[in-house]
Amino acid sequence: DRLPALLQRMPKAELHMHIEGSLEPELMFALAKRNGLSVPYPDVESLRQAYVFNNLQEFLDIYHQGTLVLRTEQDFYDMTWAYLKRAAADNVRHTEIFFDTQTHTGHGLNTDVVINGLHRACVDAQQQLGLSASLILCFLRHLSEVEAFEALEQALPLRDKLVGIGLASSELGHPPEKFAKVFAKARALGFRLVAHAGEEGPPAYIWSALDILKVERIDHGVQAMKDPALVARLRQDKIPLTVCPRSNLKLRVFPTLAQHNLGAMLEAGLMATVNSDDPAYFGGYMNDNFTQTFAALGLTAQQAYQLACNSFEASFIDASAKQIFQ
Ligand code: ADE
Ligand code: ZN
Repeated sequence: DRLPALLQRMPKAELHMHIEGSLEPELMFALAKRNGLSVPYPDVESLRQAYVFNNLQEFLDIYHQGTLVLRTEQDFYDMTWAYLKRAAADNVRHTEIFFDTQTHTGHGLNTDVVINGLHRACVDAQQQLGLSASLILCFLRHLSEVEAFEALEQALPLRDKLVGIGLASSELGHPPEKFAKVFAKARALGFRLVAHAGEEGPPAYIWSALDILKVERIDHGVQAMKDPALVARLRQDKIPLTVCPRSNLKLRVFPTLAQHNLGAMLEAGLMATVNSDDPAYFGGYMNDNFTQTFAALGLTAQQAYQLACNSFEASFIDASAKQIFQ
């Protein structure tokens, strides 16, 4: 079977990956040591064994715990560089990296420490790995809209290092419309806009992300398949959906990969893409997501080509650069 090899060597773009979710236990322990901090687990193995989740919130609590070792610009650089090298090994040619400043400012860090560390790794990736990388700042939706405005304000001096604004964290109970004003402001400032919607939340959250926040892509969006009118809208407007199969498996959005609806989304004509979300926590980078999902669902080489094309088409690289990739 030649499909796994094709999936691995196929050029691809990653559009949904939280950099804090790429922090592997080995690096977490190393950064803790460097910063004179401790990790509340005896070793790497016992930490990895704790990565069992029943839902999004259980994951977010452990993910937040892991971010406590990040203290300096070099820490953010090292974490990002490790991800970029790993992505390049999977033939990722372009990546749009999510990060949340509010997690780190909540621990007393300044926004510029975070963004400058991430950005320096992105510059080095272009030069040393031939991998283009851009940054999307995600507001934390469990916090208030006022706090999102503060995060945006603090990032504005570094505006040129960012391509877009997103919305992440606990979805249920925090619908997109809670952030209508701050997304309008970000839009006026020229940011590209995305939001997590329809991961655990209902189709109504996808509608409001599109119609109220006016996002260009939906992160996850797997719950859209419950609403035929929404499926028609997503197909008509060619709205990209950044699907994360192993994430959905680990957070029990679907009981098994064989029950995932990625195949149904493609058959419905939706512009789906495959992404890793939080690879250190969900046990797999891009090619793991591709090969395992293709095996479980029996997807085809034609669908692999479709997903690769979708990933570049849905990206925020400019139109002239897209032609080079395709
Ligand atoms: N933050 C990191 N990963 C996330 C996910 N899958 N959903 C919402 N917020 C997140
Ligand atoms: Zn995500």
